Amino acid sequence: MSAIISLSNISKKFGRNEVLSNINLTIQKGQSIAFVGNNGSGKSTLLKIVCGLTNPTSGEVKCAKRLKFNYVPEHFPKMSITVKQYLTHMGLIEGMPENKVQEGIQELLKSFFMEQMTDSQMKHLSKGSLQKVAVIQALLSKPDVLLLDEPLSGQDVKSQRKFISMVKELNEQGVAILMSCHEMFLVNQLSSEAYEIKNMQLEPLDVTKYTDYDYDILSFEKPEMEANIPAVITEMIHKLDDNEGEIRMVVPREDSNQILMQMLQKGFKLRAMKGIDE
Ligand SMILES: Nc1ncnc2c1ncn2[C@@H]1O[C@H](COP(=O)(O)OP(=O)(O)OP(=O)(O)O)[C@@H](O)[C@H]1O
Ligand SMILES: [Mg+2]
Repeated sequence: MSAIISLSNISKKFGRNEVLSNINLTIQKGQSIAFVGNNGSGKSTLLKIVCGLTNPTSGEVKCAKRLKFNYVPEHFPKMSITVKQYLTHMGLIEGMPENKVQEGIQELLKSFFMEQMTDSQMKHLSKGSLQKVAVIQALLSKPDVLLLDEPLSGQDVKSQRKFISMVKELNEQGVAILMSCHEMFLVNQLSSEAYEIKNMQLEPLDVTKYTDYDYDILSFEKPEMEANIPAVITEMIHKLDDNEGEIRMVVPREDSNQILMQMLQKGFKLRAMKGIDE
């Protein structure tokens, strides 16, 4: 494998707030690296520094020549054009021929269950749909480096599965994947290396620790009386979606029963339970 990006002694301050301090990292072609960490730890900042959207306060980013980046932001701007117009425009900017762009768009919108939104205005899409459009744009023309900032946070489970398999495929074709996320199951599925950003530094995580898990998805209806998720199980939950009236969580299968019992005791009602691969 060959190094395509190297970060040397990268530090970043916003005013007096130091976010990253002396970060060193080498990224090889075809590597898949995940960054996890608490809110505000600097994951998004680090991804933006890697692809040149933000300058570091000090240190150096060296990239191989003619490297093509594709960046899927955490927050996607709302625009007054349709999904199809946006994707077509982006495809043409990438230099793809018009017929290839249209073929790719149709195929990808179908894969992500978004065909009926082809002519919807971008500004009217939900957060999850906007993220899917951003992901489709990134998949439309193969980059050398795909940067994903919390790519699953707004997506439904079916789309998540599709997304994971597509990113895996790109990775196998040699695309380097850099991702920030909060979900260890995603790290487990996608990444060969992972770091936690803690105290402004990168701390390597042992990804093999997470490879033995099978996962279940549990959906609960919230009780009428306000209830919290029991503290003893919060550490076991790998992903949590809290929507009005409903809580959905991804949990290691070996912890499913304990989590289920704890939630039922708090008055949550089980709506559905299934394996992540079902
Ligand atoms: N443009 C900016 N101006 C000032 N401060 C900023 C700016 N961008 C980020 N920060 C600060 O830098 C720190 C790291 O932010 P960042 O968005 O990188 O964290 P994160 O790990 O991505 O968090 P989250 O999990 O919430 O997405 C935070 O304290 C944030 O307030
Ligand atoms: Mg972020």
